[in-house]
Amino acid sequence: MLDILETEKSFILKHIKEGDTVADFTMGNGYDTLFFSKTVGESGHVYAFDIQPAALESTKKRLVENGAPENYTLICDSHHNSDKYIEGKIKAGMFNLGYLPGGDKSITTKRETTLVAIEKAIGLLDDDAILLIAVYPGHEEGEIEGELINDMLSLLDRKKYCCAKFRIINSPTSSYFYIVESK
Ligand SMILES: C[S@@+](CC[C@H](N)C(=O)[O-])C[C@H]1O[C@@H](n2cnc3c(N)ncnc32)[C@H](O)[C@@H]1O
Repeated sequence: MLDILETEKSFILKHIKEGDTVADFTMGNGYDTLFFSKTVGESGHVYAFDIQPAALESTKKRLVENGAPENYTLICDSHHNSDKYIEGKIKAGMFNLGYLPGGDKSITTKRETTLVAIEKAIGLLDDDAILLIAVYPGHEEGEIEGELINDMLSLLDRKKYCCAKFRIINSPTSSYFYIVESK
């Protein structure tokens, strides 16, 4: 059976290698931050964002316990301020939208900031880079976020970006994702 998380990673891994700079725009419990940290290694760098201090604590713990190299900057701020923190371009960025599983469901990504954050993340992409955006349509805000992201990405210049959507069509509430690849 298709494993959506593994599929997401396989797209990202085509674009990143040791030494690259990447960003996890929704740190949460740090699973994606850890994946990025280990993939880009000591000579790379990972910027990770979350608005919940508890997410930074949980991520830091995960990184230390799993022996991640000290190649990360954990930032307690909204991802729509990413341009204040990230220096230079990124080879990959990841948005895992929604709320923290097992956490406060009212602290979820919201369309106003999500769309600005995605626009800024696209502006930060290096050549031959990727942005991956995972959407959770099982809750109302997630469903609307997904539709708005679809509208926004559909308008991107195809000479500069390739935008695609990957969705299991017989499971409408399952998460799905978009990729934006820069040329
Ligand atoms: C689905 S979880 C992310 C899971 C995470 N990638 C992991 O590996 O555990 C979504 C996260 O987005 C965070 N979030 C919500 N609004 C945000 C914002 N404006 N900027 C950055 N993070 C935000 C939430 O606090 C939550 O931790």
